[in-house]
Amino acid sequence: MSKFMDWIDARFPATKMWEDHLSKYYAPKNFNFLYFFGSLALLVLVNQIVTGVWLTMSFTPSAEEAFASVEYIMRDVEYGWILRYLHSTGASAFFIVVYLHMFRGLLYGSYQKPRELVWLFGMLIYLALMAEAFMGYLLPWGQMSYWGAQVIISLFGAIPVIGDDLTQWIRGDYLISGITLNRFFALHVVALPIVILGLVVLHILALHEVGSNNPDGVDIKKYKDENGVPLDGIPFHPYYTVKDIVGVVVFLFVFCAVVFFFPEMGGYFLEKPNFEQANAFKTPEHIAPVWYFTPFYAILRAVPDKLFGVIAMGAAIAVLFVLPWLDRSPVRSMRYKGWLSKIFLLVFCVAFIILGVLGVLAPTPGRTLLSQVCTVLYFAYFLLMPFYTRLEKTKPVPERVTG
Ligand code: HEM
Repeated sequence: MSKFMDWIDARFPATKMWEDHLSKYYAPKNFNFLYFFGSLALLVLVNQIVTGVWLTMSFTPSAEEAFASVEYIMRDVEYGWILRYLHSTGASAFFIVVYLHMFRGLLYGSYQKPRELVWLFGMLIYLALMAEAFMGYLLPWGQMSYWGAQVIISLFGAIPVIGDDLTQWIRGDYLISGITLNRFFALHVVALPIVILGLVVLHILALHEVGSNNPDGVDIKKYKDENGVPLDGIPFHPYYTVKDIVGVVVFLFVFCAVVFFFPEMGGYFLEKPNFEQANAFKTPEHIAPVWYFTPFYAILRAVPDKLFGVIAMGAAIAVLFVLPWLDRSPVRSMRYKGWLSKIFLLVFCVAFIILGVLGVLAPTPGRTLLSQVCTVLYFAYFLLMPFYTRLEKTKPVPERVTG
């Protein structure tokens, strides 16, 4: 075996890569459960790719046959139902896991120097993931697929001068048609998965270049033993590979419970109107995007003007990109930040969740007002950050990680 590995290593850096990224990658010893979500995101990514490949084998990407081919997968293809439910539940699970993964970043200041690029690659993944989910949602060619895409694509029409041409360019037709379905299929199945996979590699390479942050936000490279190993670091393999299995088991219990017992999740994971085939002549009573887009949809609707609504929605995502440069705090982790940072993060999270709920519901004057308040609170978290992170009194950060 060792001779075989020598032969490989003389031609390909297999052992070096194993050591650099696993057996000799020293991660802080104080990771908590919030650090499960990176590896869980990887797990869900693999699930989406594997089930996606098998769904593609029986799916027909044409306006005439797409809806029926999904029914065929559900009823006639052996184990087709489980492939589809793993994929549809996986889409929502992906966003749950990624939102918690991002929340961990906010909580422990993981985006701060020197991890700005880790965060930026993460944000690019998030953008690509939103595009991937949006395009995938058109494929089953149900009523919500059709009308959801109609609402979102028409937003590009609000852009002055080029708006109309741009929407037509995206659709490839004067209205959403089989042509749109075909190009979304190509992007969903081939182009975006490649982009996402490439970005995930860059994300992890950037992280391993600087090393992981931890719940204390302490730099573990400050104190090393005589071999240059951080005193508060433990090898990722076997310690965290084994620990991550705990996260995987708990996750799979919940995930499988949903896949087997509540795959529609009360209309949140698979929306009711999508059990009816797309019909360009029949607008559903109430059009709402899938839950993971609703906070941004609520921000769009909170602004009375369409163009400014689109700008606000874009800004809500764009502002996350510059987060590493908004936080001026001398400390990373929320454990040692002042109470202003804590309150702003709490208010931001509550506002984000309320926006998510409002985005599902039909607008009323009261709800619109509430979504306007929450939009202001959402942006306040970011735009006031340079001030409150500098003004507040922070606690002293310990030299070494605690517990
Ligand atoms: C497909 C989606 C993603 C995958 C597979 C992924 C994977 C990972 C993995 C395996 C880690 C190391 C383990 C951990 O710290 O949890 C990590 C760390 C990190 N990720 Fe992601 N990630 C994804 C999306 C994102 C997004 C959307 C963001 C934020 C915009 C993000 C920001 C970060 C940050 C800041 C770290 C370093 C955390 C720390 O050291 O405290 N990631 N990611």
